Amino acid sequence: MTALFFLSSCTRDVLSAYRRARLDREEEEDGQRRRERERRSTTKLLPEKLLRFSSRVNRKRFSSRRLEGEIKREEEGCVDDYAAPVFLLSCARALSLFLSLSLCVCRSLSLSLSLCVCVCVSFADAVVLFVQNRSQAISDPPSKSSFDLSNLSEIAERRTRKISATGANLKDWTPSSYRARDALQQPKYEDQAEIDAVLRRMEDLPPLVFAGESRNLQSQLANAASGNAFVMFGGDCAESFKEFRADNVRDTYRVLLQMAVVLMYGAGMPVVKLGRMAGQFAKPRSEDLETIDGVSLPSYRGDNINSCEFTPEARRPDPQRLIKAYDQSVSTLNLLRAFSNGGYAAMQRVSKWNLEFMQGSPKSAQYEKLAADVDRAIEFMHACGIDENHSVMNTTDFYTAHEALHLGYEEALTRLDSTTNDFYGCSAHFLWCGERTRQPEGAHMEYFRGISNPIGIKISDKSDGEGVVSLVKHLNPDNVPGRITLVSRMGAKALREHLPRLITAIEDAKLNVLWVSDPMHGNTIKTDNGFKTRPFEAVLDEVMAFFEVHEKMGTHPGGVHLEMTGQNVTECTGGSGASSVSQSDLELRYLTHCDPRLNASQAIELSFMMAQKLSEMKARKKAARESE
Ligand code: PEP
Ligand code: CO
Repeated sequence: MTALFFLSSCTRDVLSAYRRARLDREEEEDGQRRRERERRSTTKLLPEKLLRFSSRVNRKRFSSRRLEGEIKREEEGCVDDYAAPVFLLSCARALSLFLSLSLCVCRSLSLSLSLCVCVCVSFADAVVLFVQNRSQAISDPPSKSSFDLSNLSEIAERRTRKISATGANLKDWTPSSYRARDALQQPKYEDQAEIDAVLRRMEDLPPLVFAGESRNLQSQLANAASGNAFVMFGGDCAESFKEFRADNVRDTYRVLLQMAVVLMYGAGMPVVKLGRMAGQFAKPRSEDLETIDGVSLPSYRGDNINSCEFTPEARRPDPQRLIKAYDQSVSTLNLLRAFSNGGYAAMQRVSKWNLEFMQGSPKSAQYEKLAADVDRAIEFMHACGIDENHSVMNTTDFYTAHEALHLGYEEALTRLDSTTNDFYGCSAHFLWCGERTRQPEGAHMEYFRGISNPIGIKISDKSDGEGVVSLVKHLNPDNVPGRITLVSRMGAKALREHLPRLITAIEDAKLNVLWVSDPMHGNTIKTDNGFKTRPFEAVLDEVMAFFEVHEKMGTHPGGVHLEMTGQNVTECTGGSGASSVSQSDLELRYLTHCDPRLNASQAIELSFMMAQKLSEMKARKKAARESE
């Protein structure tokens, strides 16, 4: 009987050895799966647990906002759930073997008792094998061949390899890993405990946007990057608490939509709309301190940080302002979503142009013709049966964007997407990095590397091609289309000189990027009467230079990024006809909390000029194609 028992044991061991050898062969064929199996092997239970524990500590701050569901359950359950029974049954087997041997040696018990022990041992063995197999089956990531849902298997693979949707290596990335780097342009709070408490509270607040929305935007941006759409960013330089009213949000939204319709007609392609809204609060500043009449105070850094009045109380960074900015962003986004889907975006309404800028303008006949053409196109669609009740005519996609400057705020609103297991910055659909904070080794780049949103990088004439190429590769290793938007802001003269070399560098490296022009930040001047302003003509000149350079280089001028408002403010000088703003008009309605914005008339006039230019470019392209 003992011999029989040993025979069965040996057979089992031979089978196990064979199974092990087969696994090893499979493992050689697939490095990723081998690592996964080793990671989950019961023999590595202790180090594995330690590893998981340390990563749990690392991620503990984000646990409340993780929506990982079954993926996490799978990750934790496969070893922990089965380790105890496997261990107990192995003990039982060893004990039975010991008993059986002693009984045979002592010959003091009957043959039937010995048989009984052997049956028990075999049964225990069977259970051990079953449990091990089951554990193995759960711990194996679903392979493409065994799973029809290829998306799920990709997610499992990505998790195993710890990479983001853009191919970035996330082994050492967490939403807070930027903290180990130098973070520029951050407020200096007096009470660390207070800001920590505010950010912890924000971690439990709902995300403002969802990852799936950001992915939809990214596919539209990819379409623009490949030359089939135009992108329009627009909104305040800095949103403010004081100017927050439904009317103001509505008016900016309406002007953006009007501009989009004009551009759509001119460019003959879809226009992707993004508002510098619902989160565009924090501002980078050239100086930490502002000095007036010999008194120095911390600079104003945006309403989510301090207040612009020049008093020590107003300029003190106040953590509670982050919550207020979040709440205002929620309300703004709620309005934007309602306008976009509740009928306000109806094409007929949008085409009621704000054409007052035409009056007295030498170009008025030209603008009127374009406006009449657009109206006729809408009437034609109506005649085709696409009336105001059609979703194409009364709903639109509208996305939000802001500079991800305040890293604590961004970190607190970073979420793990349960569908893809990727991290997303959920404070806005699109986040950009400003000219002052894009140092390759800096904290902002570290944060941007790990989130999977579409992102923008501002570049200027000081940027060198090699640096931009390496930054783009760092942020988008898999060269995913739509992920990177390069926003040039350098003024028309510098743009004509420097943009071509930057385009060449990107083209030579075969990188997918969307090119956008910010014609505002390279054209700010100070007037004799002390106002920061931008001449409309300089803004227009930079946009036209951007179009011309791209036409010459054979690349697509993918969009514009404007600081504008739906209000009739007097912040930028110039513009046509009756609504032109002179230097002496600036004091009339200078309401911006930071940089000067185009008013509604100037913004719409700019869109007419852009539409005209884009339609001429389109005609030239078509003629060139036909003559080939
Ligand atoms: C901005 O877009 O408001 C801004 C500050 O831009 P930049 O970083 O290009 O100066
Ligand atoms: Co600005």
